[in-house]
Amino acid sequence: MILDIINKKRLGKELSYGELYEIFNGYLDGDVADYQMSALLMAICINGMTDEEVFALTKIFIDSGDVLEFSDIPGIKVDKHSTGGIGDKTTLVIVPIVAACGGTVIKMSGRGLGYTGGTIDKLESIPGYRIDLSDEDIEEQVHKIGCVVTGQTADLVPMDKAIYALRGVTSTVSSIPLIASSIMSKKIAGGADKIIIDIKVGNGALLTNKEDANKLSRLMKEIGKFYEKEVRTVISDMNVPLGRCVGNALEVLEAIDVLKGKEVDNNLYDLCIELATNLVSMALEISDKEAEKKVINSLKDGSAYKKFLELVKYQKGDVSKLRISNKEYKLKSNIDGTISNINALKIGKLAFNLGAGKKEMDDRISYGVGVKMEKLVGEKVKKGDVLATIYYNKCLPEIKIDDIYKID
Ligand code: URA
Repeated sequence: MILDIINKKRLGKELSYGELYEIFNGYLDGDVADYQMSALLMAICINGMTDEEVFALTKIFIDSGDVLEFSDIPGIKVDKHSTGGIGDKTTLVIVPIVAACGGTVIKMSGRGLGYTGGTIDKLESIPGYRIDLSDEDIEEQVHKIGCVVTGQTADLVPMDKAIYALRGVTSTVSSIPLIASSIMSKKIAGGADKIIIDIKVGNGALLTNKEDANKLSRLMKEIGKFYEKEVRTVISDMNVPLGRCVGNALEVLEAIDVLKGKEVDNNLYDLCIELATNLVSMALEISDKEAEKKVINSLKDGSAYKKFLELVKYQKGDVSKLRISNKEYKLKSNIDGTISNINALKIGKLAFNLGAGKKEMDDRISYGVGVKMEKLVGEKVKKGDVLATIYYNKCLPEIKIDDIYKID
């Protein structure tokens, strides 16, 4: 029977709910082997899925674990998810903004995957910060301060954990139906009423072209309709890293700079404003224009930064103990010109090789390492100017400037 199901998808036919249920739950129960599930995932990757199959798979994922319910918490609960990128610390900025504007945000974040960082790893660079809150802790905290950023509990969509790990090692990560059901099942099981998804496109993202991003956007909105949840999407560029820092503690410090109004003129600030505006508009049921005004105000009057400090303190973190590696290397320009590109993937790989991400399951992350881009795209540089500061721990990997920077 399992072989028939795999074969049916190999031939590009639609699988029923019952067939998907049998093979996916069989995998979680240990009755379907890794190689069988890998074959099915590859067949899905190549032949795709109908919307009905994606709805069925999303339901199977959701039903594999707990479904959180926060109906005791008043107001509309909003949530945000990104498909993953380099230097993406938007959650650290927008969650306090939304809460400072009066919205309620329950955010369950994940760890880094490959070269892309994860919010939970970034938050763990703040000594003491708790990422293992229980449902009761979450409820109490949201009542008190309006927001929470914690890790996904083990019982939240366990099917995704199992399938995602297999996708990571079978080159089936970038399948649109699999991404849609993976993300949407977690958002729906996490108890959000309204959701925004940041779909990244570019060399540092899972999707490398806009057409695929549009397909994913449509599919996620359809899943939202099916579950009667408002889903908005933003498609954002990931050919260039987001902001100027890549690396866990460095990214937390950069998020603080945005919250303090020190970083206003770059792609990170713009995306934070766009995402926060959408969240505030959904949370408070106001127009985007009104929401944007509130968002910008919360940065100007310091309330968003204050909320960030409150959030970190509530989760037992101590920002004053955040540490950056004291070994620095200055990467200097070898020519005069204007920076026309900074390759997101190459910067991601560099930070990863410095130790900002895990190569093996048992590796320890070096929270203080990373790259700070001192010059951004569009800036003029002279030969010898510092393009980036590399913070490293033990040894410096080989860095080829021309691979990373395009200077015309
Ligand atoms: N993020 C997820 O949570 N799942 C995917 O499949 C891709 C990105």
